[in-house]
Amino acid sequence: MKDVYILGIESSCDETSFSIVKNGNVEIATVISSQIDIHKDYGGVVPEIASRAHVKNVTFVLAECLEKAHMTMDEIDAVAVSYGPGLVGSLLVGLETAKTLCWLFNKPLIPVNHIKGHIYANNLVKRMTFPLLCLVISGGHTELIYMDKDYSFKKLGKTLDDAVGECFDKVGKVMNINYPAGPEIDRLAHFGNSSKYHFTAPLNDDSYNFSFSGLKSSVINLVHKEKEINKEDLLASFQETVIESLSRKTIKAMNEYNVKNFLLAGGVSANRGIREKFKSICEAKGIDYTFPDIKYCTDNAAMIAAAGFFAYKEGIKADFTLNANPGLEIE
Ligand code: KG4
Ligand code: ZN
Repeated sequence: MKDVYILGIESSCDETSFSIVKNGNVEIATVISSQIDIHKDYGGVVPEIASRAHVKNVTFVLAECLEKAHMTMDEIDAVAVSYGPGLVGSLLVGLETAKTLCWLFNKPLIPVNHIKGHIYANNLVKRMTFPLLCLVISGGHTELIYMDKDYSFKKLGKTLDDAVGECFDKVGKVMNINYPAGPEIDRLAHFGNSSKYHFTAPLNDDSYNFSFSGLKSSVINLVHKEKEINKEDLLASFQETVIESLSRKTIKAMNEYNVKNFLLAGGVSANRGIREKFKSICEAKGIDYTFPDIKYCTDNAAMIAAAGFFAYKEGIKADFTLNANPGLEIE
């Protein structure tokens, strides 16, 4: 088969990113412009500021990506764009850029669900094999996804309230840790004693769903109540409870679906404690596993281009009526 070059575009939240990926697994060039420093002072992403920053950055990031790849638009086979879920104003910037490029250069437009992109970040590390189970843990999502072949997704369960990343960020806020708090909690938890504070593992039932708002409230209440808190121990205990909850449901799904491969996806999959736990679970069970490259755990266009290749192979295309879908879900 002739090599296929996909230009990926990602602008669903606070990263403006373009990437060119060959055949869904060979990264040619990726540029990511992060707005973290702009939003840090507000303790979270401010949607209006995010959209404006995307508008300001988008042409420069595209130009830099093509330059880095030593390629022109004529050499691109299709444009894949993240069209949801995410912030509507942010998504629209990437989407309109994609449509304009497709119209100007007569390329197919491939719609990509941002979460499917997170999953395909793993294909840039190692070719995904099936059947597989993927635990998606990000700032906005916590889902268990089963795949029996490429680009076929079945959602087994999801969070009923807060996403894991959101829970990390809110616990961080009460502990005076800058947004996004996940990386710093991860670092501090490493030095703490995880059995010092006890929290109940949330939603201890037979479903594949998760719940994190109760755990978040327990941690926040404890911080308000106790005069002296050992920060490292508290964060280690919190993180351990999160890991316990995620792994219990995941192990159950691994057994029921008899999967051969396990993946982590999303921003929280950068977490050291979570990686160590799932590495040892998979090794004990003889399941092959892949975790995304740390730099591609959070939002980037390489993962969108990788997923876009498999959507392209499936013949998935959109016309210029494609709209942003902030609440887009994996069916
Ligand atoms: O996937 P992502 O970039 O954005 C969404 O699509 O939601 O994930 C961002 C989330 C934030 O909540 C951040 O705190 C969390 O990922 N995060 C982490 C770590 N690195 C990023 N959480 C725990 N441990 C980490 N090392
Ligand atoms: Zn994301």
